[in-house]
Amino acid sequence: MFNIPKGTKDVLPTQSYKWQYIESTAREVGRVFNLKEIRTPVFEHTELFRRGVGETTDVVGKEMYTFEDKGGRSITLKPEGTAGAVRLFVENGLSSTPMPVKTFYITPAFRYERPQSGRLREFHQFGIEVFGSEAAETDAEVIFAASSFLNKLGIKNVRLELNSIGCKDCRSRYNSALKEYFKPHLDDMCESCRTRFDTNPLRMLDCKEESCKKTVASAPSILDYLCDECKAHFEKVKHILDCQKVRYAVNPRIVRGLNYYTRTVFEFVSDDIGAQGTVCGGGRYDGLVAELGGAPTPAIGFAVGIERLMLLMENTGASYPKEPVPRIYIGGMDESSREAAFTLASALRSAGISAEVDHMYRSVKAQMKYADKLGAEYVVIIGESEMQSGELNIKNMRLGTSATVKTDEVYSYLKEEKEND
Ligand code: HAM
Repeated sequence: MFNIPKGTKDVLPTQSYKWQYIESTAREVGRVFNLKEIRTPVFEHTELFRRGVGETTDVVGKEMYTFEDKGGRSITLKPEGTAGAVRLFVENGLSSTPMPVKTFYITPAFRYERPQSGRLREFHQFGIEVFGSEAAETDAEVIFAASSFLNKLGIKNVRLELNSIGCKDCRSRYNSALKEYFKPHLDDMCESCRTRFDTNPLRMLDCKEESCKKTVASAPSILDYLCDECKAHFEKVKHILDCQKVRYAVNPRIVRGLNYYTRTVFEFVSDDIGAQGTVCGGGRYDGLVAELGGAPTPAIGFAVGIERLMLLMENTGASYPKEPVPRIYIGGMDESSREAAFTLASALRSAGISAEVDHMYRSVKAQMKYADKLGAEYVVIIGESEMQSGELNIKNMRLGTSATVKTDEVYSYLKEEKEND
């Protein structure tokens, strides 16, 4: 008996339709926003994430699944989708195709974190990445795509929090201001904040320790340190969101946990799923393509955590479509009627109708019970007399009614019934 590794989850046969629904909704968002799907390997060279996500982040510093392969290379299971998408963009010369290059992906991701509700070691993301445009309209469109995805799934009660963390220049001025502010408080702050003070002071704003939160509350705001261009960009993003009646709150404390961000950053947050309330996070990363060896190319994207999204759907009563059931169960009584049942099922399946037959040599009574358990919409049992007459008695399980239908007319009967449903 083996147990599933800590922080991972199975998808059971009775649950997979929920995943399929979310994934098809993601693909539908991809279609209407003209995003093309990309797929990158589950593992990449470790260096990609070190350079891409940043050495000073928790993700790279503490959480990566890194190992040496048999060829002595350092390999890492992807902790997120952006770095791989950028590598794909650069390596395949997509910068010489018409801009913007608009992509989406659905991918597993791996982080060695302490598992808790909404936090797993293997999780899944639906993400989009758009390369080549620095227009504020693109920021807005990416945010619309995230919000449209959540809306389509019937999710309510998430709030959009928006911030700008400026460009390199704004941030270097802001980092100095932060250091000046935090310096006299350092003794009262947690161990990781003291480390972040030297490596990445911006991340101190994100600290969850109660003792640090108070100090953080009065820290200077990044919005007071934006240069004129970054300020104008942020104003324009907000203006477009306002025009489109997208509700948001500016939260100058959003800094995001990955180092590549510039200018616009945003999160969709819920209070209905406990401590890990961020279902979607994203932002601009105008420096990353160049950092990973490409020509300077602005870019922006987001990722939604699918498990967190499902938790949110469950906790807020957002509904899934009904689990698919067989359209018809075709039972048999003996060797030859079972054969006839198989033949009819094959014909219906070839025509695209889901059909189920008996695999367990159940009695007729037990077959009826089983068909009911399956939720089959129609049930027919073939016996000797049906074989002789070529006429079947098809029972509509929902209405409790029956109809006599010729064997070779079952397909049209079911099709017609569907239209009347
Ligand atoms: P992130 O904020 O690290 O951003 O992750 C995005 C989402 O993935 C989170 O909001 C959360 O829903 C989910 N997530 C993250 N870690 C876990 C975990 N351990 N367990 C379950 N769900 C988790 C990124 O990954 C960026 N690549 C997003 C992005 C794309 N920015 C620009 N483009």
